[in-house]
Amino acid sequence: MRRSALTTTAVAILATAALLTTACSDRANVLPEKPRPITTEGGAAGGAQAVMPLPKPAESEVSTTAPAEAETASVDPLVAKGKSVYGSVCIACHNMDPNQDGAIGPGLAGTTLELLQTKVLKNEYPAGYTPKRDTLNMVPLPHLEPDLPALAAYLDSVSGT
Ligand code: HEC
Repeated sequence: MRRSALTTTAVAILATAALLTTACSDRANVLPEKPRPITTEGGAAGGAQAVMPLPKPAESEVSTTAPAEAETASVDPLVAKGKSVYGSVCIACHNMDPNQDGAIGPGLAGTTLELLQTKVLKNEYPAGYTPKRDTLNMVPLPHLEPDLPALAAYLDSVSGT
């Protein structure tokens, strides 16, 4: 009986050991789970990778800019401004269509910036330039100096159209 009792005790000890081992293995299973949060942190690192997409907003900005450029490609803002100035000032004497002669002034399509700078600002012509008219009836419009590049861009854009 004693041996069986010892055996029983031994079995109980083994069983306990087995339980402890199991418990340990459970803990061992728990421990790997702790690194999982680390893996989650890796997911946070993935969040950092999600930060990598931060350039994506930048790309979206670029894509936002691209359509804007596409829109301005069809209508150059400089040309648009030049057309606006031409339509509000020049058509008083020149034709609404720069390719046509106006009631008073000649056609202006293709007018160079240099010609605009002399004619519009001082009612003069560049050296060696042959004026379309012999008169000097146009009034100088020196306040338009900042708009001359736009006017030149517009008059160039409609040249030959
Ligand atoms: C008050 C009327 C009047 C206005 C406003 C006017 N022009 Fe003129 N422009 C003329 C007349 C007239 C001529 C012909 C030359 C002369 O008599 O001065 C002329 C000639 C020109 C010429 C010379 C063309 C050439 O090749 O010989 C240019 C360039 C010109 N105008 C540009 C402009 C621009 C750009 C505007 C608007 C910012 C403008 N003009 C506004 C009356 C005007």
